[in-house]
Amino acid sequence: MVSRIVAVLNGPNLNLLGMREPEIYGRETLADVEADCRRLGAELGLAIEFRQSNREYEIIDWIHEARGRAAGIVINPAAFTHTSVAIRDALGAFEGPIIEVHISNVHKREEFRHHSYVSGVASGVIVGCGTEGYGLALRRVATLIGARSG
Ligand code: DQA
Repeated sequence: MVSRIVAVLNGPNLNLLGMREPEIYGRETLADVEADCRRLGAELGLAIEFRQSNREYEIIDWIHEARGRAAGIVINPAAFTHTSVAIRDALGAFEGPIIEVHISNVHKREEFRHHSYVSGVASGVIVGCGTEGYGLALRRVATLIGARSG
């Protein structure tokens, strides 16, 4: 059977979601986002592996781990979006769909947030839809990997 695993990976400071700059990122915590992803994942027949790290190498290791095992990746690389060639290269070696998510509209914010190293290897990018962006990303992965094969 083809894998229905989707790795949902979150970068630095997202452990503080709901507490840091709520006017930008909202009041939902990362645990709330994880619960929403698991609920929707069950509906879509996806096995969600939800993770967060403040360490670049750990995110890279998780992307490597997803190779040949996960059907897709949803990633909010947070600040590493704007700095990490290493995360981009790791994602470039992943075979399945990759959806990049940003909770805030990075294009409305400081100039240094306008460039993403990740977008060039992503299948799609969801920006500025709040934490709802994760659900939109999961739906897109489900579309791209196709219907449940039973
Ligand atoms: C973010 C946007 C990034 O610029 C920022 O560094 C983050 C979160 C977002 O989800 O809006 O930490 O990725």
